[in-house]
Order: sequence, then C-alpha cells, then structure tokens
Amino acid sequence: MKAAGILALIGCLITGAESKVYTRCKLAKIFARAGLDNYMGFSLGNWICMAYYESHYNTTAQTVLDDGSIDYGIFQINSFTWCRQAKQQEKNHCHVACSALITDDLTDAILCAKKIIKETQGMNYWQGWKKHCEGRELSDWKKGCEVS
Ligand SMILES: *[C@@H]1O[C@H](CO)[C@@H](O)[C@H](O)[C@H]1NC(C)=O
Repeated sequence: MKAAGILALIGCLITGAESKVYTRCKLAKIFARAGLDNYMGFSLGNWICMAYYESHYNTTAQTVLDDGSIDYGIFQINSFTWCRQAKQQEKNHCHVACSALITDDLTDAILCAKKIIKETQGMNYWQGWKKHCEGRELSDWKKGCEVS
C-alpha cells in the first residue's frame, strides 16, 4: 500500500511536468464557459475544430517558424505579433507573456484568441481552421459533450 502510494506520487510528479492534452468535450465545456460559442459569430464547433487542427488540443504545443518566431499553445498563437517572448521586443498585441499561452489554464490563450479574431476580422489567422473547418458542418465537434 505504502509503496503503491509512493509510486502513484512519483507518477503524478512525472505527469505534472508533461504536457496537458485536453479531451474534446472538456475543451468544449471550457470554451463554452469562456463565451467562445458564437463569439464574433463563430460557433463552438469552429473553435474546437480549429484547436484540433492547430495543436491537437495540446496546451504545450510549440512550433518554431522559419522567421524565428514561435507559435504557442492550444491555438498556436504567434510570438511575433501577439505575445511577449523573453528575449526580444515584439508587438505583443495580447499584452501577455508567450509562456502564459502554454499553461493548463486556458484563460490567457482564450483572451488572446478573442483579440486575434477581433483585430483580424475572423478566423483566417488559423491555417488549420481555413484548411479543415471553414465553411463545413461543424456541429459534430461538440457532439456528446454536455454543452448546448
Ligand atoms: C505536446 O507538445 C509538446 C511540445 O511540443 C510535446 O513535447 C508533447 O509530446 C506533446 N504531447 C502530445 C501528447 O502529443
């Protein structure tokens, strides 16, 4: 019992250091609670579909681009325009550290995504969305989740 407890604890510590990958429905609930459903006219399905193709729901996803900038987190938000990296002075339109966009707490990432969709007039910022989600029937993305 004791040994099992210690093993479980070690397991937790290791898992804690790893990335967090949300399930589709957990994300649907978080998005709905944060007011993303129909935000700027984009239904919940758009957001879930977009997050899937951008990050596969991986909150710690990071992609280094050719220009040296980095896409961060579940929405793959780029450091050049939207957040602040430690080493250089970027535009930082979201007034947030890029590191805050790769935490389990999605509050900052969602606020920034709302800013992007407002400033860029839609979801075209996200290539994964354009390619796989735009103009499609997206209600299946929230199917089986307890969201209205
Ligand atoms: C999530 O992204 C991180 C950083 O890119 C990566 O190390 C990790 O393996 C990914 N997790 C999964 C489950 O794909």
